[in-house]
Amino acid sequence: MTDQGTLGFESARAEAERLREELHHHAHSYYVEARPEISDTEYDRLFKRLLELENNHPELCSLDSPTQRVGAEPQSKFKTVAHTAPMLSLDSTQDVDELRRFDDRIRKALGEGHEPTYVIEPKLDGASIELVYEDGVLTRAVTRGNGREGEQVTDNIRTISSVPLRLRTEDRVAPELLSVRGEVIMYISEFQAFNARLVEAGGQPYASPRNSAAGSVRQLDSHVTASRKLDLLVYDILAIEGSGFKSDTDGIEAIRHWGFKVPDRIQRGRTVEDILEYHAGFAADREGLDYEIDGIVIKLDDLSARSAIGVTSHHPRWALAFKFKPRQEVTRIDKIEVNVGRTGVITPVAVLDPVVVGGVTVSRASLHNREELRRKDLREGDTVRIQRAGDVIPQVVEVIAHEKDRARPFEMPTECPVCSTPVQEEGPRIKCPNRFGCSAQLQGRIIHLASRSALDIEGLGEETAALLVTEGLVSSLAELFDISPEQLVEYEGFAEKSAASLVEAIQSKKAPDLPQFLIALGIPEVGTAVARDLSGYFGSIAAILGATAEELEQIDGIGPKMSEVITAFLEDERNRSAIDAILARGVEPVASVPADRGFPSAGTAVFTGALPIPRTSAEAAWRAVGGRTAISVSAKTDFVVVGENAGSKREKAERLEVVILNFREFVAKVVSMGGEVDVP
Ligand code: IVH
Repeated sequence: MTDQGTLGFESARAEAERLREELHHHAHSYYVEARPEISDTEYDRLFKRLLELENNHPELCSLDSPTQRVGAEPQSKFKTVAHTAPMLSLDSTQDVDELRRFDDRIRKALGEGHEPTYVIEPKLDGASIELVYEDGVLTRAVTRGNGREGEQVTDNIRTISSVPLRLRTEDRVAPELLSVRGEVIMYISEFQAFNARLVEAGGQPYASPRNSAAGSVRQLDSHVTASRKLDLLVYDILAIEGSGFKSDTDGIEAIRHWGFKVPDRIQRGRTVEDILEYHAGFAADREGLDYEIDGIVIKLDDLSARSAIGVTSHHPRWALAFKFKPRQEVTRIDKIEVNVGRTGVITPVAVLDPVVVGGVTVSRASLHNREELRRKDLREGDTVRIQRAGDVIPQVVEVIAHEKDRARPFEMPTECPVCSTPVQEEGPRIKCPNRFGCSAQLQGRIIHLASRSALDIEGLGEETAALLVTEGLVSSLAELFDISPEQLVEYEGFAEKSAASLVEAIQSKKAPDLPQFLIALGIPEVGTAVARDLSGYFGSIAAILGATAEELEQIDGIGPKMSEVITAFLEDERNRSAIDAILARGVEPVASVPADRGFPSAGTAVFTGALPIPRTSAEAAWRAVGGRTAISVSAKTDFVVVGENAGSKREKAERLEVVILNFREFVAKVVSMGGEVDVP
């Protein structure tokens, strides 16, 4: 039909396609080439026209439209997906001799008469990401994860303006499938401004541009990612359908043609001397750059030589990261203080004359424990060399000068500086044992609960936690959920709006992911990996609280020592009532990954009390119909068979609301499943 509607639609389709082409082109000129060809106003005009067309004809909308960078619905969790090819790590060194050995190995592998050509480039310190293009359109962006699979964060990556939503095809056709690898970075200037805003709002600053880039990529609401200025530089082809590239150089050229931004200063070199010169040049320029690099990467250029040389399960043998020495600065220890952490451990801390180390102002550094203090002989007033380990955590390396009449060595306190309880010694460390009465420990627990790996409560940083505790607004973690905006506005630093948003931020975390909730509780030994495993295995907080040490040990990586520490914590009455109090506030952790207990469908039975037949016979009858038996009751028990004088197991079953059967009911169940029980 050639009616008016069809004609109207056809011309709208053609115009929309033309506008997209233009907008893609100008986004590339602006964000990738940094050579804008039109004004912002003109760009906005084209953009608005496209929006208008798409609004009038929703069927014109496509995922690679420039209008689709922002606007995805917030997600409740990320999907885990496999990478197109493993995302390997890099072998790394700071040592010139190791670099020489690397070069020797490569030369040997190439054999007589073949000289290597290396591609040398900056090692960007950001978050590694895989981008997948199918028929030229961005279909998937995946975090590195464990190298084999990662989290699908496509909506977030789409918000980065320099990422092509579809490949440019002016100079080169788009392959059917292309997977590239790059680094998401936050520029240092942006990082500093962003951190300043976070602190202003009462939140915890990020430790480094890398952390904030990684944190931004993992936001469930892509609007939040969009509000952070990120960039993405691509340096590798992970997988491609039919390429014929002979070298990395060819690949990088193609990456450029397809419209990606690539790292600056990619060069080629032939010898260790070339590499050293490049390394020294970049190290010298490092402070002047607006992005973090932590070294350089050296890769063999020839792709067929690469295949011959191969990879280990961890890294390619044909590449090496040659890292920079950690950044160091000289400053003075103004004072030595002690800090009481959330577990009561008392740590000496150097209060430093503030100094900027790689874009971050450092004014405190942990001195770990008294042994460390003594070994380095650090005293107030000393001039010291400091560094950021892994370019993140500040450390005092050594004393480089001190005054003639030096301060006396620092003595660790015999009482907790906050609650005055006599300290206890634990190896080289001292500890305040007043777990539930020491306000410093409560403050530490609040900060931990609100931190990014736990409940991630925006606006609840150190200062706010200190205020809540010292003003008596909360005396337990559970009470965080009781705070009202009216209470907060009484205090300096809180306006109506910020008070309301803190309360809202806290309330919004009432259905946390189970692993994050477990981390928030501060259970010893339960970090990210263990929390994830516990959640995956037990599937609910009730099941974890009811688990015995033996059951915990069913999980790979949890041994007897660890299970004991965990159960001791969970069985401690005061811990238990603290947890119950949080749950009583309506906090309902959700296990996003369903429990995988590996049990057959018949279920797990526990037998208790005096049965008419030997217990072993009853257990055998149940196993014969495909069931499992256990010796203790937990929330993952399917039913408990109670005989006469059943005691604590019956009580536990009642508490956990596990089904209770008497012997006759049990026999009936077995018979109904085609089994039999030898009843005397
Ligand atoms: S190549 C198999 N090149 O460094 C080799 N990696 O420590 C793939 N990185 O997770 C990596 N800049 O995210 C390569 N120019 C660069 C890089 C780079 C930064 C990161 C990468 C990786 C980490 C390894």
